[in-house]
Amino acid sequence: MSSALVLGADGGIGRQVVAQLAASGCGTVVTADRRGPVDHLVDVADDGATSRYSRWLDGFEQGGAMPDLVVWSVGVYPRRPPHAYGTDATRAVVDANLTGFLRFVAALTRVQRRDGRPRRLVVIGSQAGATGGTDAVYAASKAGLNAVVKSLAREYASLRLIANCVSPGPTDTPMADVMGERRAHYERAIPLGRFSSASEVAAVVVWLLTQAPEAVLGTVIDVDGGLVRR
Ligand SMILES: NC(=O)c1ccc[n+]([C@@H]2O[C@H](COP(=O)([O-])OP(=O)(O)OC[C@H]3O[C@@H](n4cnc5c(N)ncnc54)[C@H](OP(=O)(O)O)[C@@H]3O)[C@@H](O)[C@H]2O)c1
Repeated sequence: MSSALVLGADGGIGRQVVAQLAASGCGTVVTADRRGPVDHLVDVADDGATSRYSRWLDGFEQGGAMPDLVVWSVGVYPRRPPHAYGTDATRAVVDANLTGFLRFVAALTRVQRRDGRPRRLVVIGSQAGATGGTDAVYAASKAGLNAVVKSLAREYASLRLIANCVSPGPTDTPMADVMGERRAHYERAIPLGRFSSASEVAAVVVWLLTQAPEAVLGTVIDVDGGLVRR
């Protein structure tokens, strides 16, 4: 039976992923976020996060319950134009959205090299990483995630890690509240005429984790009501 680790598990999309994994019959779902009712609290932007991940993963391994399904659904979206960012604010967003993931990848790939067990990883990116957006720092950090996933696909498929990215467009979660009165503008631009739901995004994540052929590898799958059409 599979066991899963979901980071960003208390977010709008993360909570749906946890619920759908449990409904799909996944044995154990371990949750992590920076707050909320989760199994592990972690600030992914913190320099100490890498050693913390290593401790978790070592603990899972020793308990014979190393997750074979992993989801990264962490993110911050300040929706600020570039001129409103100082150095510290830029670093904070890049740390939360990209460096934090790279820290996790360092710990996960160490395990992958050691055990070589079949494992699937899904990262939540953003359509902003493909098209750009109001917030250049956010868009750049999300484009970086796509590059990390493609690098993992290239280098780790032979070690049985199947990594993919799900790239949402505007999705009804607390993160989308920041769009405020621009919401109607986005709705007009989306061919489907509405935001995606967190449960639609989660359904694609869970499909990639549990049902997709492993030949679906290193891809970025848009869930955006037809917004990007790449
Ligand atoms: N909703 C959208 O329209 C949309 C569109 C494209 C992409 N996405 C992406 O989808 C993913 C999930 O977002 P969501 O829509 O579910 O938004 P959300 O509800 O805000 O979830 C994001 C989660 O990440 C957590 N987080 C942020 N910074 C963290 C840090 N430094 N350490 C640990 N946890 C941290 C948040 O905690 P706090 O609540 O404490 O901040 C929250 O639980 C994100 O990567 C986001 O960029 C969302």
